[in-house]
Amino acid sequence: MSGSRKTPSSGPGLRAPSAPQANSHSTDPPRSGFSRRSFLKGSGAAVAATAIATGAEQATADDEQQITSGPEKITLNVNGENRTVTVEPRTSLLEVLRDQLGLTGCKDLQDIYVDGADTVMVDGKATYAGTTFALNVEGKAIRTVESLRDGRNIDPVIEGFVKHDGMQCGYCTPGFVVATRAFLDQNPTATLEDVQKGLGGNICRCGTYDGITKCALELAKGGA
Ligand code: FES
Repeated sequence: MSGSRKTPSSGPGLRAPSAPQANSHSTDPPRSGFSRRSFLKGSGAAVAATAIATGAEQATADDEQQITSGPEKITLNVNGENRTVTVEPRTSLLEVLRDQLGLTGCKDLQDIYVDGADTVMVDGKATYAGTTFALNVEGKAIRTVESLRDGRNIDPVIEGFVKHDGMQCGYCTPGFVVATRAFLDQNPTATLEDVQKGLGGNICRCGTYDGITKCALELAKGGA
């Protein structure tokens, strides 16, 4: 499971990468250590225990139906548009965005201790798309990094990253940009301490945190 991940904007601050802390997500989909095989084994054990307890020789059809519930269509509001997608209960928002909607700005890089690369906004709040079930964000406003540049308008956060050389190698940058936009929307007059705490949920090996901090502070002073 993803119990080792932090919630965006709740981390230790923009510092050198460290081991991720426990997060408060209650909607985390299966992660490393919780495989499909172990799920099925666990489900089988649960069914067997139920059968013994009730004296039944096998699970009922209803039990099997609950365990094997399949894909369904839902509508997600992504970057201002309603998009119909097909998901299973375990499908993450990240999988939907990248694999079904072609929005590849958010990345899946958690296995190499780069965190926050999958950050999107859900109802204005920075959220890890990789640990959010797609089913749980139906009816909410989802924004990805792609919404911050529409061909004519570029979000000042993107310009600030360029100006202060906060781009790094580029893999985590979209997540950092989204996290910074969400943070400034909620903290338009942020201080240095606020920025360090507020963007602490994004961890990156490139570590050009100084440039990102300068960008956020400049925008906070000048009106984000
Ligand atoms: S590893 Fe994060 S931008 Fe390079």
